[in-house]
Amino acid sequence: MEAAGQDHTVPQPMPFRHRVHSGGAPARLACATCHRETGTGGHSMSLPPAQVCMGCHRTVAREKPAIATLAAAARNRRRIAWEPVWFRPEFVRFSHHTHRASACAVCHGPVAERDALWREVETNMKFCRVCHEQNGARIEGGTCHAER
Ligand code: HEC
Ligand code: HEC
Ligand code: HEC
Ligand code: HEC
Repeated sequence: MEAAGQDHTVPQPMPFRHRVHSGGAPARLACATCHRETGTGGHSMSLPPAQVCMGCHRTVAREKPAIATLAAAARNRRRIAWEPVWFRPEFVRFSHHTHRASACAVCHGPVAERDALWREVETNMKFCRVCHEQNGARIEGGTCHAER
């Protein structure tokens, strides 16, 4: 059963399901198979290129329309235009690398159980501040907000 917030799932260009790929049967891929630290200092997380998907989908479910689209994207080295679910305003400093000691689920919820994602954890300023206070991490001016 899904939590109430599933009404807010973000529409994606194809029905990719974390539950099927990362949650256990039929596939139990580690998050890092598809998401890696990227950008300056590992600040961001990458989204997987279609070639990663084709490792399995060359054979798995190849008759399905979404997989044909995926195969064409991989052939042409074209990115699938995934819609962002989590994002932050330009002036907020945030680095995945700095937070690598925290489980992904703390900020993103139980992604591996989901058929589709929504912003089920609101990573707003209050959320950031509460955890920083609990862990003795810095909160004073300039830590999380760029100088303007
Ligand atoms: C470890 C192998 C594996 C990898 C890698 C993989 N998949 Fe899958 N995928 C599966 C399996 C198994 C299924 C379930 C097949 C079924 O239900 O017939 C599936 C199902 C799907 C479906 C559902 C098709 C449908 O219409 O029901 C989509 C869409 C999909 N995968 C997209 C992707 C994308 C996008 C990637 C890369 C980001 C990816 N897959 C990577 C194994 C994989
Ligand atoms: C087979 C590849 C694959 C695996 C394994 C995988 N993901 Fe993903 N992930 C994707 C794709 C494709 C998207 C974009 C579509 C979507 O949002 O559902 C995505 C989206 C996300 C997003 C939302 C990104 C945004 O734009 O805000 C988060 C968070 C995420 N994944 C976390 C995880 C976590 C945590 C795990 C391990 C439990 C995991 N993923 C395993 C392929 C994968
Ligand atoms: C401390 C909170 C936190 C943790 C822990 C965290 N994330 Fe994120 N994640 C965010 C925030 C905030 C964003 C949106 C802002 C950004 O992208 O910089 C985000 C964005 C993303 C995105 C979208 C791509 C991007 O960089 O914009 C993916 C994919 C993602 N996270 C995956 C993961 C995975 C996988 C893990 C665990 C290895 C993880 N995150 C751990 C807070 C977190
Ligand atoms: C799960 C707890 C947790 C959450 C949630 C969290 N943080 Fe952090 N954050 C930490 C800890 C612990 C550190 C200190 C890490 C270190 O020094 O190695 C830190 C460090 C930082 C730093 C680096 C500070 C410096 O010394 O340069 C920034 C910037 C930051 N966090 C921003 C954010 C933002 C923005 C959010 C919300 C989107 C957020 N954090 C959410 C625990 C958290």
